[in-house]
Amino acid sequence: MGGSSWRAFDNEYVATASAYAPGVVWLRKYLTVTEQQALVARCRAIMDGPAGGYVPTVRGGGRMRVRMVCLGRHWNPLTYRYEPTRADHDNAPVPPVPDDFAALAARIAADAGFTFRPDICLINWYGPEGRMGLHQDKDESRASLEAGLPVVSISIGDTARFLFGGLRRRDPVEPILLESGDGFVFGGPARLRYHGVSRIVPGTAPPELGIEGRFNLTFRQY
Ligand code: SIN
Ligand code: MN
Repeated sequence: MGGSSWRAFDNEYVATASAYAPGVVWLRKYLTVTEQQALVARCRAIMDGPAGGYVPTVRGGGRMRVRMVCLGRHWNPLTYRYEPTRADHDNAPVPPVPDDFAALAARIAADAGFTFRPDICLINWYGPEGRMGLHQDKDESRASLEAGLPVVSISIGDTARFLFGGLRRRDPVEPILLESGDGFVFGGPARLRYHGVSRIVPGTAPPELGIEGRFNLTFRQY
């Protein structure tokens, strides 16, 4: 990663990119509305297509509050392992991460100071009642985690109240309002910080997207 030197930039696409904390960069309004519209169409097609999104059941029997589809590798919510097929659901094989998705995530990571070749993308759809409990993303390879390769998150649609905590579950959490078009990157010393989504704020998506709810894409390198 780029250590403590963060690339500062300001162009027509990027309103602000701020080093939020060591290893954490919030790229607000990173994507134009046109780029967001294109992503909505792609995510809808994947979510509603063959072997599309489903509501996973996690260890212990609870149902998640999102619809999920994985690209590159399937994250099995019963075993917390990545797999080539959806063994917890329909055994469908997992399609690769599209090249343009991977390129976008790599560009966001580079703008945050990280070199990154993502090979996993989880797409989650949050309806008005969608949320996600506090957790760590720690099921990637040991080499990836030890190198602090980042998680790159892209938010599209309604605003989410994203909770960002520390390295221990009991550490205080900070609410961050992730809006449509925002990128959020956490790697390096922040790679294992707890995070979750406490609520979706209905009616906040840009009207041009024609969307009620939120897509979140998280990219990782296994
Ligand atoms: C996740 O942690 O996998 C999703 C986070 C988000 O929806 O912003
Ligand atoms: Mn996560």
